Amino acid sequence: MPDALLPEPWWEEAVVYQIYPRSFQDSDGDGIGDLAGIESRLDHLSWLGADALWLSPIYPSPLADMGYDVADHCAVAPELGDLRGFDRLVTSAHQRGQRVLLDLVPSHTSIEHRWFREHPEFYVWADQPPNNWVAAFGGPAWTRDERTGRFYLHSFYPEQPDLDWRVPEVREAMSEVIRFWADRGVDGFRVDAVQQLMKDADLRDDPFATTPFVLPLGDEYGRLDHVHSEAGSEIAVALEAMREAAGGALLVGEVYRPTRDLGPYLEHLDLAFAFELLHAPFDASRLAEVIREGAEARRIAWALSNHDFPRLATRFGEERSALAAMLLLTLPGTVFLYQGDEIGMVDGAGGSPPFDRAGRDPYRHPMQWEPEAFGGFTTGAPWLGLSDPLTRSVATQRDAPGSPLELYRSLIALRRDLDGPVEVEVRGEALEIRRGAHTVVLNLGDREIERPEAGHRVLSTIPGRGDARSIAPREGAVFWDS
Ligand code: GLC
Repeated sequence: MPDALLPEPWWEEAVVYQIYPRSFQDSDGDGIGDLAGIESRLDHLSWLGADALWLSPIYPSPLADMGYDVADHCAVAPELGDLRGFDRLVTSAHQRGQRVLLDLVPSHTSIEHRWFREHPEFYVWADQPPNNWVAAFGGPAWTRDERTGRFYLHSFYPEQPDLDWRVPEVREAMSEVIRFWADRGVDGFRVDAVQQLMKDADLRDDPFATTPFVLPLGDEYGRLDHVHSEAGSEIAVALEAMREAAGGALLVGEVYRPTRDLGPYLEHLDLAFAFELLHAPFDASRLAEVIREGAEARRIAWALSNHDFPRLATRFGEERSALAAMLLLTLPGTVFLYQGDEIGMVDGAGGSPPFDRAGRDPYRHPMQWEPEAFGGFTTGAPWLGLSDPLTRSVATQRDAPGSPLELYRSLIALRRDLDGPVEVEVRGEALEIRRGAHTVVLNLGDREIERPEAGHRVLSTIPGRGDARSIAPREGAVFWDS
């Protein structure tokens, strides 16, 4: 069959909605979001127009890293449900035409995973810390195991020992995990911390960084240039194994690297996040650069927020968040939205004491469905307090002209009509994005600017602009030249 006749992979222009399971919807009043709760809210995703959902980890976990410390890769955390509930969720999503992505955490396990004791050979050990490597959240990357007196390697918290992907049995064990979920109907995986999968075989010291890394890093982690503690070209060994197990399921990598370095990862993964967009200052020239580079790399997953970074509306404020939404949803490729961004949720206060030692509670507050104290999220006491459900909720923004929710929904609907490659241009403080017959103008500046000569305005971030002859300060508008 000629290429042109092959069906496109489903994800090519998809909108994927990221769900943070503990904070989406509680169904049993224990204050913790769960799978049945997610199932009961799938209509929100359909209404919004999302094509797929990605669930942050749902596995049993002692929660040192809020689920990214996995104690059993092939089970569901009891507070979230069970495998039968998971199957029901997948069936319900598929009935609505929605695909389901799981979070695959292959580079480390929880220290409470049975492998850590039963298969110490799956991990990286040394009698003394053999090098200067540091953990991503700070502190040394080597911790002494009280039981054996030896040191094990961990790229993140000490409760997350790193797996050694050079060991064939590790590759096989994780391949089994992939097959386990694929057999249950999962459509793909967001692969966590891919750059940590392989390290220097000789465990050599990392040199000091001479220039700041392109992406933000913790202070201590940023002092080193991670040429040895992160993957080099050998990453292919790990990715090939994963690819083989996943077959045609989508693999989208969380590769925390500049876009220009994603090539070797994209040889085996279908997509990789372009973190440069997420961290870009809201400046037309920088955005243009980042988009062009992403378009060149192709197969990019675009996101402006997730559970690890301050919320979009907190970073940008209301007006500029609307521009950011327009930017994100008019880009070619796959787009990831983080739950709550569609109603402009801002950072919350976090837990007291904090649940996450790295300070990420504020980005993980429960979803606000209704304008009531617990936001319609739970009938019990929420595990993490609600931020401001009386100010922002799905119920009050649904069908409210000019609300963030209405804008997101309109943008996702409009996205279906966009085609063609992207052309980006900077005009003063404005960014112009052309996709076929559509031109998107994001006026990031404080001055009114001229609108394009051709086409009429089909959408604006400012309600009631009709076919105004100019583009207002901080207005984003889409023009269609029919
Ligand atoms: C990824 C996750 C993050 C987690 C880390 C370690 O970056 O997004 O939440 O802490 O991996 O698993």
